[in-house]
Amino acid sequence: MTKATPHIQPNGKKIAKTVLMPGDPLRAKYIADNYLENVEQFNEVRNMFGYTGTYNGKEVSVMGSGMGVPSIGIYSYELYNFFDVDTIIRIGSCGALQENVNLYDVIIAQGASTNSSYVEQYNIPGHFAPLADFELILKAKQKADDIGATTHVGNILSSDTFYNADPTFNEQWQRMGVLGIEMESAALYLNATYANKKALGIFTVSDHILRDEATTAEERQNSFTQMMEIALEIAE
Ligand code: HPA
Repeated sequence: MTKATPHIQPNGKKIAKTVLMPGDPLRAKYIADNYLENVEQFNEVRNMFGYTGTYNGKEVSVMGSGMGVPSIGIYSYELYNFFDVDTIIRIGSCGALQENVNLYDVIIAQGASTNSSYVEQYNIPGHFAPLADFELILKAKQKADDIGATTHVGNILSSDTFYNADPTFNEQWQRMGVLGIEMESAALYLNATYANKKALGIFTVSDHILRDEATTAEERQNSFTQMMEIALEIAE
């Protein structure tokens, strides 16, 4: 195991086999403060805070990924390849793209379509479909059903653009049944696949792209709690 990388410098602090990754490093701190016990901070490089603690006696880490494919690409690559991390569970928000997906619903991202060029580094002679780990999908769906969360399992879009110049952009992805848009999971799934490790993205719907609806920070809390509970329970 590597002692330090350019972006993760634990100074001897432990990183667990499973890392939960919200986009916002202050969200990582909030999770450590509110859900974990025996917490130690293992990273503060670039304020991309990372913490390790226990949840019901299970060791788990939580660390910010930053926004977008390049950022999560770096952090997840280093965690998988230099720190012996087996599983990364991304927890985030996404914009809904289908009429039957509503604000506060939970989306389990079985696949992550993308317009990012990240996949091109592998020189695959075709169009690779980045997928989550099947066992994690099953466990997350089971847990979501147990706690009564309204859940959708399917394809999401990891977009390189939050603001896209093409007015037909959303419609085209909607037509293909994509449930929602976020900006990171494809890189996470590709890094996991290439390193022979496991990944899953779980999302709460923070805005509805077709219906122009958005949630407030307070309103997001309940669905955030459901997503967190699912992620923490399936952490191994
Ligand atoms: N687009 C991209 N990423 C997002 C969105 C969105 O509408 N909502 C939350 N993350």
